[in-house]
Amino acid sequence: MLEIVKKTIDEKRQGEAFSGDPSMEQTIGKKFFIESYGCSMNFSDSEIIASILQAEGFGSTKNEEEADLIFLNTCSIREKAELTVRKRLTEFRKLKKVRPTMLVGMLGCMAERLKSKLLEEEKLVDMVVGPDAYRSLPALIQEAETGTKAVNVLLSREETYADISPVRLNSNGVSAFVSIMRGCNNMCTFCVVPFTRGRERSRDDVTIVQECQDLFDQGYREVTLLGQNVDSYYWVDPQTNHPIDFAMLLEKVAKISPLLRVRFSTSHPKDITDKVLFTMRDHSNICRYIHLPVQSGSTRLLQLMNRTYTREWYLAKIRRIKEIMPDCAISSDIIAGFCTEEESDHLDTIDVMKQSAYEYSYMFVYSERPGTLAAKRYTDDVDMETKKRRLSEIVSIQNSLSFESNRRDVGKIFEVLIEGESKRSDKQWMGRNSQYKVMVFEKAENQTHQKGDYVMVKVDDFTQATLLCTIVN
Ligand code: 5AD
Ligand code: SF4
Repeated sequence: MLEIVKKTIDEKRQGEAFSGDPSMEQTIGKKFFIESYGCSMNFSDSEIIASILQAEGFGSTKNEEEADLIFLNTCSIREKAELTVRKRLTEFRKLKKVRPTMLVGMLGCMAERLKSKLLEEEKLVDMVVGPDAYRSLPALIQEAETGTKAVNVLLSREETYADISPVRLNSNGVSAFVSIMRGCNNMCTFCVVPFTRGRERSRDDVTIVQECQDLFDQGYREVTLLGQNVDSYYWVDPQTNHPIDFAMLLEKVAKISPLLRVRFSTSHPKDITDKVLFTMRDHSNICRYIHLPVQSGSTRLLQLMNRTYTREWYLAKIRRIKEIMPDCAISSDIIAGFCTEEESDHLDTIDVMKQSAYEYSYMFVYSERPGTLAAKRYTDDVDMETKKRRLSEIVSIQNSLSFESNRRDVGKIFEVLIEGESKRSDKQWMGRNSQYKVMVFEKAENQTHQKGDYVMVKVDDFTQATLLCTIVN
């Protein structure tokens, strides 16, 4: 079946007539447009969805106006994320007037959270499909084409889409996401993800390593292993009964080639082990960068959040990382104004930020999500003005930490992986160092560097988000 499908797509590319599986005939020529919101996991899922649809003969388009199917891969993490998607839906309403046969599908976390309620609230929506139900998309499309609204929001304990080769969408041809696990068992009280993405399950290591190898063979030079909580990756080989943990998986991927950079996200402070840190240290192609969300610097709040660590424990973890890899960059997620947060808790957060000297942070005001443990147990009692003031203080602390970190880099030499031309000028390359910092430098006149090449550069200066460099020999 897969063979025929592959051929079908190739034939289509060459503009030849289709003569394969008759059930596909009706899909040939139909185009889908997919837009992703939220975390990297959603962007990675959209690549799996594109693969499932292409295998059924649908073609992808980047132009929503020519699409027969519009899919929004949605995020529920904060109320604002959901509002953005709803606003976007109103734009598709106009398109539907022009093309009444066009179908609209809501995918991902909002679909899972709201289920068929979404069909009542948004009349435009024809399909509602949760994160574990993408294999049923072709059948759901068929159903929706008959005029019946189609819903599948079943969560699974096994689905990892392990056998599906993602179609790389909007790729720079250098770096790619590889999903290694799905779901989350952590139950942080503020978070809707365990409800929208279900129980945690790991993908088998063989298909992960194969996907990374294939990417490398196609010229990719960086993979980011994705999961809500990568450090609890755990797979037991059914043949040998050998367990494989995250450190072992990292090593297997790193051994594909020293030219393949390996990144991963996200790590939970309670789960990242010394074994992972030593594996990173021992492989220079595993990047010196860990995203280690703290959420709050107050032990009392961490307890209310069910993060299962204290501020001291977190700070000890940071020290351990720096002890093993002094050049490792660390970033964080921080929530301002969680339930019952006092000024002293907020100051604790600022203190942890300073002690951790984060290179970057993703910073948010707390947004109560229906159905979460926090929504059930606690009152969202910090007023919006206070939340926003605390957030802006956190942002300004982070800005100065990032500034300091960039200043420390001036004069240093780094290896950069070229991702493409800089946005500002086609005379400059843009890339990142192992620490994930964006670096820009003039192309050398007599050298033929390309995307995907490694170059040594020296940092001369910096702006807020970019290190300005020159090539060194
Ligand atoms: N409100 C604000 N931020 C949240 N996050 C998760 N849930 C919420 C919420 N209800 C943040 C956390 C998490 C990141 C992905 O989003 O910081 O690490
Ligand atoms: Fe949400 Fe916590 Fe799981 Fe991250 S670890 S997805 S914040 S429940």
